[in-house]
Amino acid sequence: MRDLGVYADVLPSETPASELIGRKGVIISGGPGSVYDPESPQLHRSLLQSEYPVLGICYGQQLMAHVLGGEVRKGELGEYGFAQLEIQAEGMIFRGIEKYQQVWMSHRDQVASLPQGYATIARTATCEIAAIASVERKHFAVQFHPEVAHTPSGSRILSNFVFDVCGCKKDWDPRGQVAAIEEQIRETARGRSVFFFVSGGVDSTVAYTLCLKALGPEKVHGRYVDTGLMREGETEFVRSNFAALLGDKPGATSFAVEDASDLFLGSLAKAIEPEDKRNIIGEAFVQVQQRILDSDGYLNGNWVLGQGTIYPDTIESGGTAKADLIKTHHNRVAGIQKLMDEGRIIEPLSSFYKDEVRAVGRELGLSDELLNRHPFPGPGLAIRCLCTNEEDAPDRAMGGWILPVRSVGVQGDSRTYRAALALREFPANPEEIARLVNSSEGFNRVVVALWSDRSMATLHSIPSRLTAERLARLRKADAIVRRISKESGFDSQIWQFPVVSIPIGTESKPDSIVLRPIDSVDGMTANAVTMPESLMNRLVEELKNVEGVAAIFYDLTNKPPGTIEWE
Ligand code: XMP
Repeated sequence: MRDLGVYADVLPSETPASELIGRKGVIISGGPGSVYDPESPQLHRSLLQSEYPVLGICYGQQLMAHVLGGEVRKGELGEYGFAQLEIQAEGMIFRGIEKYQQVWMSHRDQVASLPQGYATIARTATCEIAAIASVERKHFAVQFHPEVAHTPSGSRILSNFVFDVCGCKKDWDPRGQVAAIEEQIRETARGRSVFFFVSGGVDSTVAYTLCLKALGPEKVHGRYVDTGLMREGETEFVRSNFAALLGDKPGATSFAVEDASDLFLGSLAKAIEPEDKRNIIGEAFVQVQQRILDSDGYLNGNWVLGQGTIYPDTIESGGTAKADLIKTHHNRVAGIQKLMDEGRIIEPLSSFYKDEVRAVGRELGLSDELLNRHPFPGPGLAIRCLCTNEEDAPDRAMGGWILPVRSVGVQGDSRTYRAALALREFPANPEEIARLVNSSEGFNRVVVALWSDRSMATLHSIPSRLTAERLARLRKADAIVRRISKESGFDSQIWQFPVVSIPIGTESKPDSIVLRPIDSVDGMTANAVTMPESLMNRLVEELKNVEGVAAIFYDLTNKPPGTIEWE
């Protein structure tokens, strides 16, 4: 909605209809639940009897049908990926859209019979009731996801709903928000100074710059923690950037780098599971934070903590009451939560999406080089360097091998933690990947083997932890990929290019490298990008010379069903 220039809020599903009076329209979003699960979000019938237009999406469609007396059927197998939509009733939310449309599906349950007064307005091969409407009530609902980039006509559908059906006018532009954010920062700070832990990424740099503008350089201190989990050259890059940002402003003396790599690597020495790694990193951040705060006197009531948390971070950490916990964000672990409860956190960007943060940054005059950087996760290379306890051989399956190492995925809005299927050859078409993942509960990702030092059948998983040696190997591989993809211009065509290390190999070559170039609009969904063959060959040629690398894979999985990071 905000992309369309219309201000919208996300509210908990429990919000009573009476609180929505005056709203121009309501969208009931998707979610991981089933309407038959007593724990899953319910909807008060009065919400559907009010004046305003309603659009249900995915679970939202099922919930509307269920509450109004239709029937929702539990799906045997889910449907995750592209589908061909056939529009049966033109106009309304489908105004200006061709009869056949590619749409993105991610669901298990579906509507089996309509509530009275509603009609089916679109279908797909596997979903007879893919969109419904009651025109006189101004109620519409779709099983597919119009809000993701994979549904090309999605933003037109949303725009038809918000402008034609709801009668909204454009009233929102993130660029116009700078003054309001600054005002809010001053209000929250109430005379106190702000201490920032910056990562060098877009979010924390924009948040820091906003505070700098709102409060002045003498009231904003920044510290960059070198966790030992960063990419090659990162610390120097951050240092020079902040030097430029502060220029020779009077009082601007307080940007510093804290080397905490011993603490981080020491605490992670035994970790294997993704959520353990994240929690340990989160706690180590809090510990370093505490140490700095203690020793430098930031703990007295004159200081608050600033953070670059953005909106999707809050949603994916289960920040709204019902959203499933897909992964723990390190800005939300217990230690930080406590500071939040004390009202000593400023997160000026917590209600903004990534593209809005970039727009704000541009407004602030930050350089394109900085703003267009690919996002890089706070826990750094730790979530791209996978660990295992087991020594296992790959199993042959479906034109390849099931690799004995598990990674995180997301299906039907819930977290999965499964093996990966490594194909010998590229599949004939990209839809094949979704079909393979939907057909099995054994794996949540599909990669293709680009190169291996020995026959794949002789490689196995090696019990591995996050050691300095493995991190150095990954750092090297990552630097190679970054250099080559920048030189070839590929870098600017994609959203992110994670390079992942998995403990599959032999005693002398204990790791394999996974290439994961993806495109995305907001990180919430993503698709695997096809690399030009020349680029792929160049990458393989250089990567296979990295000491200790046994094989190179290329991740072809979209999100969903695979998350961007392997964890
Ligand atoms: P996933 O793996 O959830 O990633 O599909 C979505 C996007 O978020 C980034 N990411 C993070 N960013 N702190 C961050 O600042 C984190 O803990 C974190 N985890 C994932 C990821 O790189 C991708 O762009």
